Amino acid sequence: MAQCQARKHDAKAELNRRSQVCETLAGTGVRVAKMEIIVVVGFLKKRNNPAMTIPAELVQRLATAKSVTVLTGAGVSAESGVPTFRDAQTGLWEKYSPEELATPRAFRRNPRLVWEWYDWRRKLVAGAKPNPAHFALVEMEGLFLRFHLITQNVDGLHQRAGSRHVIELHGNITRTKCSEEGTIVSSWKDTGDVPPKCPACGGLLRPDVVWFEEPMPEEEMQEAMTASTHCDFFFSIGTSTVVYPAAALPSEAWRSGATVVEINPQPTPLTPQAHFALAGAAGVVLPELVRAIRASRRF
Ligand code: APR
Repeated sequence: MAQCQARKHDAKAELNRRSQVCETLAGTGVRVAKMEIIVVVGFLKKRNNPAMTIPAELVQRLATAKSVTVLTGAGVSAESGVPTFRDAQTGLWEKYSPEELATPRAFRRNPRLVWEWYDWRRKLVAGAKPNPAHFALVEMEGLFLRFHLITQNVDGLHQRAGSRHVIELHGNITRTKCSEEGTIVSSWKDTGDVPPKCPACGGLLRPDVVWFEEPMPEEEMQEAMTASTHCDFFFSIGTSTVVYPAAALPSEAWRSGATVVEINPQPTPLTPQAHFALAGAAGVVLPELVRAIRASRRF
């Protein structure tokens, strides 16, 4: 009994201290404290009830937004059963880190191993289905005048959910290209070679994804940067925000005056900077957010 009262007392004292900070900072217009309090409440609520309450202020401000840009990462596909990059590896690939498999050097060193890893992931992705987070983003696309969806994911689940225009920063695992010519190859003779050979030049085939140490696709990167620096709201969803240059986009949006919202059950380097940090699973938070936006437009 004593311990529980003490904890309640501590939490209450902490909230008082923060609202005092909030009051003191209110005069100075500094926003930090306000966001902090939102996180605390969300955290407590999450413990007792997985549903996430969307901050009223976020919904109010979204009501007048014209342009929304979203950046997604592997966390958005986690609820579809696609492992994220930095989850502990499961199954066959327990002993490899993605960095060891997703580089041009790794492919030169052992093309068979790399091809088989992507083949395993391709089968996993083919068996996965879009989840409520993907479908909520399709709905969000129809709720704003301008909407851009930038993804680091290579699984194509946004497109399978119905998202119309997806900016793929890291390519797509369902496409294959020639490692010599860089051309997309959609069919090839099954000669038993692993990896298979390019029908045009005999070069090794590889997945059409961006590996570490490889240049980013210029057009997509330019489009992503423009969409990030010309929006009212920027959502960073299900990404650890550690892999650049994609990880720089939220800060670029912040610097250009956008309101930055992070959705992630875990804190990331972006969390302290975000205007709103919703600590929850994308498949829970995003449908709630869409419901709240629709409700706010009915009145
Ligand atoms: N909803 C929202 N976020 C989630 C969920 C979920 N259900 N489950 C996990 N997450 C969060 C994790 O807390 C983590 O912060 O998703 C993030 C996944 O991080 P990473 O595995 O690092 O994936 P990502 O940020 O997409 O990686 C970026 O790195 O390895 C390269 O090219 C690869 O595109 C990838 C890039």
